[in-house]
Amino acid sequence: MWLRCTSKCVFASLSRSYNNVLSRSFNIAAFMPEAAGFEGVSDRAALQEFSLSNSDHFWAAVARHRLTWISPFHTVQDCDLSRGRIKWFEGGKLNVSVNCLDRHVHTCPEKVALIWERDEPGSEVKVTYRSLLDMTCRLGNLLRRRGVKKGDCVTIYMPPCPLAVASMLACARIGAAHNVVFAGFSAEALAERIRDAQSSTVITVNQGVRGGRVIELKKTVDTAVEGCPSVKQVFVAMRTENPVVMTDRDVSMEELEDAVCEPAAMDSEDVLFLLYTSGSTGKPKGLVHTQAGYLLYALLTHRYVFSYHDGDVFGCVADIGWITGHSYSVYGPLANGGTTVLFESTPVYPNPGRYWEMVQRLRINQFYGAPTAIRLLLKYGDHWVHKYDCSTLKTLGSVGEPINTEAWEWYHRVVGDGRCPVVDTWWQTETGGICIAPRPSDPDAEIVPGMAMRPFFGMKPVLVDGEGKLLTSNNTSGPLCLAQPWPGMARTIHNNHQRFIETYCQPYPGYFFTGDGAHRSEEGYYQITGRLDDVINVSGHRLGTAEIEDVVNHCPAVAESAVIGYSHDVKGQGIRSKTVSIMSFTGTQITGVFLQFVQRLPKTRSGKIMRRVLRKVVEQDLGGLGDLSTLDDPAAVQEIVQGHQDLC
Ligand code: PRX
Repeated sequence: MWLRCTSKCVFASLSRSYNNVLSRSFNIAAFMPEAAGFEGVSDRAALQEFSLSNSDHFWAAVARHRLTWISPFHTVQDCDLSRGRIKWFEGGKLNVSVNCLDRHVHTCPEKVALIWERDEPGSEVKVTYRSLLDMTCRLGNLLRRRGVKKGDCVTIYMPPCPLAVASMLACARIGAAHNVVFAGFSAEALAERIRDAQSSTVITVNQGVRGGRVIELKKTVDTAVEGCPSVKQVFVAMRTENPVVMTDRDVSMEELEDAVCEPAAMDSEDVLFLLYTSGSTGKPKGLVHTQAGYLLYALLTHRYVFSYHDGDVFGCVADIGWITGHSYSVYGPLANGGTTVLFESTPVYPNPGRYWEMVQRLRINQFYGAPTAIRLLLKYGDHWVHKYDCSTLKTLGSVGEPINTEAWEWYHRVVGDGRCPVVDTWWQTETGGICIAPRPSDPDAEIVPGMAMRPFFGMKPVLVDGEGKLLTSNNTSGPLCLAQPWPGMARTIHNNHQRFIETYCQPYPGYFFTGDGAHRSEEGYYQITGRLDDVINVSGHRLGTAEIEDVVNHCPAVAESAVIGYSHDVKGQGIRSKTVSIMSFTGTQITGVFLQFVQRLPKTRSGKIMRRVLRKVVEQDLGGLGDLSTLDDPAAVQEIVQGHQDLC
């Protein structure tokens, strides 16, 4: 008894003195050189405080230090959240591809920029900064020669591969915006995004390869562009050896071009890219990100949230079709001159050891993935991890949806061997980069499983009540808003600034409304509780129920449909679609969709579908159906309950 008590006390006092040494020896200039001159800032907590109370000073110093400018900015920010006006670094000119490539080619041309982890394990391809610049310039020249100009929007429908990254950077080089569409989306979903973006140029590959299967991407593009009169040309790269039918519209990407391509001088607030994401209405929204602010925010969060250091190999396994791929496979790591992995395969191909075999083979230092994959892999057992040497890992990241405690513990204990911090990162397509995450903070500061915890530098999360009043105490929950603008935030919705204002700025005037709810713990840490709108999250993919209903309703045999999310132990949420009559859901390649055909949907007398009733049926909580007094035809519920039981 005595021994145990003493050892505890000794440990406590040892760790206290160790922490004291750490904080005494904390060197702000080594941690963040541009912060060395900030008055009164001697530790990370003070830096966090400074970034909020002296926001302009903080971001100006970071922008000057981290980005290479063609001409300097004169105004740090001009933002009015209540009116949806967001401008950063006005007057400044720069080129994003120069920041991601040329400046590193000057210092370390042979450093590996990309490791293309192709579908077949062991067949990875490494691309140096010199050759990625070369590829980007040739593509930039090809686009220019074929008439793509500053201000145009190029749609990219490609799996993660060096040519996809070069295509994104080639757009940035010549001043065109890109619109990457996830290469798992159907022809219809692709067409809708091409039309909304008014693209005249599409870039694709002949075929994709994923999980050992060949995917006919060019054919999907052919079908999509049939319904897109704006499209004048489709560039086609060869991912496989198999030839595809080329039409008059198609241009081979093998055409040889000069490897010198003059970078366009872009204004800070010129558009860098559009990225479509689901909202709570049927129409996906093209969020607009601009040049300097987005790049700066991706760069800074990549470096500090993951404790990235020069020489590390960064392994983000997200597809480039999502914002995570944009910010943490492409822009953040490349702006930092890092080595980044492009993952083409799946977590279970050829077996559930794929990630960890890759970690061993590529010597990955930071691994960034989604809870859905972690939940899936833990079910296959620890031995798939233990087979491989994962000792290079330093930080493990999680993104896209809440990570449950079991998955968090497994990730930490088995994958990270109990020694790697797990950073649960909360952010959105709208935010451009990570907003809330356990780091950066004192490396010894506690991390609570399943909590995103602390705001990033310059970020001010707040919780509000139903009337929009600020909830100031801890141990409270409410809609999550961001109270201070930051450089990485989306500027608008393409062609629909009014929708931007209504969605993000008007619900709680003066704040940016995230659409998520959160809990702030007794200690002041944030935990995301989930969406407050009709957006659901399947395997980390964000889908609007109305958007899926739109697709389902397109089927001639379907009169109408109601889509709901239900909790799923691997995918986070699955989709249940109650359709009147027969159809098949082919909107995306995302699995986890469950259909039930019904004769009629439960509606209120005013004609609104009672989705909460459907949710309870699916959750088999018939006792929780709640008030059915407004139901038009109670028999509809009985039918659905019966049908559901038959299906289960
Ligand atoms: O609901 C939140 C959830 O994903 C939404 C954003 O989706 P998307 O724009 O597709 O971006 C995903 C990658 C950043 C958020 O509104 N979400 C994201 N990260 C987390 C999360 N929910 C809980 N915990 C997270 N760490």
